Amino acid sequence: MTLHRPALLLSVAAAALWLGCTDPVSQPPSGGTTRDQSGRAGQPGSSGPAATPSPPEVKPEPATNPGETAVSAPSGPKAPSLFVRSTRCAECHEAMRTEWISSAHAKASHSAAYSKSFAAAPAELQPLCTSCHLPSFAAGQAKDEPGRPSEGVSCDGCHTISSVQMQKSAAVMTFDPSSGKKYGPIPGASGHYFHDMAYSPLHQRSEFCAGCHHLTAFKVAGSERPIPVVTDFSDWQRIGCKKACQDCHMPSRGSVPVARGSQPRPNVPSHAFPGAAALGKLLRFELLPRNKPGEIAVEFSHGAGHMLPSGFVDRRLIVRAEWLGADGSKLGTEDRAYGIMLSDDAGQPAPFFRATRIKQDRRMAPGKSYVESFRIPPASAGPAPVKLMLSLLAAPTAPELSAVYGEPELTVLRSTSANLPLRSGGK
Ligand code: HEC
Ligand code: HEC
Ligand code: HEC
Ligand code: HEC
Ligand code: HEC
Repeated sequence: MTLHRPALLLSVAAAALWLGCTDPVSQPPSGGTTRDQSGRAGQPGSSGPAATPSPPEVKPEPATNPGETAVSAPSGPKAPSLFVRSTRCAECHEAMRTEWISSAHAKASHSAAYSKSFAAAPAELQPLCTSCHLPSFAAGQAKDEPGRPSEGVSCDGCHTISSVQMQKSAAVMTFDPSSGKKYGPIPGASGHYFHDMAYSPLHQRSEFCAGCHHLTAFKVAGSERPIPVVTDFSDWQRIGCKKACQDCHMPSRGSVPVARGSQPRPNVPSHAFPGAAALGKLLRFELLPRNKPGEIAVEFSHGAGHMLPSGFVDRRLIVRAEWLGADGSKLGTEDRAYGIMLSDDAGQPAPFFRATRIKQDRRMAPGKSYVESFRIPPASAGPAPVKLMLSLLAAPTAPELSAVYGEPELTVLRSTSANLPLRSGGK
């Protein structure tokens, strides 16, 4: 099944678009502490030499990344229980846990789509899935302890990362869960009875996120497959975005205490990691004021730091047109999908772990305008529509791959409508 028809895709050069990547960081002025904001500037191209592509490995040994973090983490005992549960962290960092628990990170190991597709993936690739979706397991911790549901990308899943080594098509994370240190962005924070601190400028850079948000090839049965899995980092790098992932995805929630009983610190980052719906102001979706006779066109653009849909390769953005009759009934629906369409050898749509080729890369670049036109159904085609509803929908997984991922829950990012018939040349 294909969801889209060959569509008119224009790029309007003169679109005066507000591009998020070049905009000043919308954070309140710093209140005079030692918090280092300089590390926030993303540095595309500074990610080290391109190495031979290989899937990410997870090593439980501590290590340092030369020139990155001056962290020396002593090897602690290799205890079976390494990652502390988020409920313990919440004893002092309650606000962070409240934000995190609602985020996709907290559900990374047990969302419906993940559970279903994990079961469908070849056994050989399952450890690869786990290395990003359940880092505690990858670092050697039992997966399902009774009464302890797995926590996906948990607090310790990010705050025990001591280094990330960039390779061309992957990034290798090193975890240091056993030293008891929490790696974070505050220079010189003093340790206490519960945990030690390790100052990590890496945590304010895009390379940190790349640990899990960068995989453009992987190995199956020993041979390299150039199929992308997560493209946020590679897109961000190619586009040359001047902001780090954290600038857009971990905005400041103001000057508040970081832990219970601490002095407030400025620009404490949000841990809610909002998905598609929350970042709407960087999206534009409007009817074209002038239309060709018999057609209605919608123009859209975005200012994200990467292509959209972004991230996970089997995501989609869908422009949907719905023709409505006088009584509000739906007379017809037309979808135009954006995303990376993968296929198997037979040319059929396939999830990334079965795909052998990229059939089409149809995504929206930041700062460009795209136009989709829809032809008003002719009078001979049945009852005349009186209204057109146009929506931009986010699909966490591709509808045509529902056998693998389940039916996606669509989020309406924007919608607009036009009454018919159109006056000539107007809305
Ligand atoms: C997906 C990775 C990720 C997860 C999961 C995560 N954090 Fe963070 N955390 C970060 C990053 C990155 C920063 C630094 C962001 C910045 O400074 O721009 C940070 C900053 C912090 C800070 C320092 C705040 C400050 O003002 O600098 C604390 C404390 C913290 N996180 C605690 C937690 C707790 C507790 C949890 C679990 C409830 C958690 N984090 C989950 C990535 C994560
Ligand atoms: C007993 C209280 C307490 C508990 C429990 C606790 N923390 Fe902290 N944490 C603190 C304090 C205090 C600070 C320092 C805050 C400051 O200096 O403003 C801190 C700072 C941090 C930082 C910043 C480190 C840096 O150098 O940037 C991170 C990250 C962090 N905690 C993560 C965690 C995680 C993850 C857990 C759960 C495994 C956790 N904390 C549990 C009290 C606690
Ligand atoms: C200039 C701001 C900006 C920067 C920088 C940026 N992003 Fe985004 N990101 C966005 C916007 C806007 C969206 C799309 C929201 C939407 O669909 O409405 C998005 C979407 C995403 C999504 C998909 C969320 C969803 O539910 O659709 C992921 C994952 C993501 N970004 C990760 C990253 C990573 C990793 C980096 C760094 C390599 C990064 N982003 C850099 C603004 C940014
Ligand atoms: C240890 C691995 C890991 C790290 C590190 C990590 N992420 Fe993620 N992230 C994931 C996984 C896995 C998902 C998908 C969760 C799911 O199954 O829905 C995800 C999802 C997201 C989403 C999508 C939210 C949504 O609602 O769709 C955003 C945005 C995001 N991450 C941003 C970031 C940013 C920004 C950083 C760096 C500060 C980061 N992540 C670091 C693993 C990670
Ligand atoms: C390199 C790290 C990485 C690997 C390996 C990986 N993923 Fe993901 N996955 C992510 C990130 C990051 C996202 C979220 C990106 C976004 O929101 O666009 C994601 C999103 C997803 C989603 C959609 C979100 C959801 O939970 O509904 C599914 C399903 C998924 N992955 C399944 C898998 C399966 C199955 C495997 C193994 C065959 C796998 N992933 C391997 C990092 C990874």
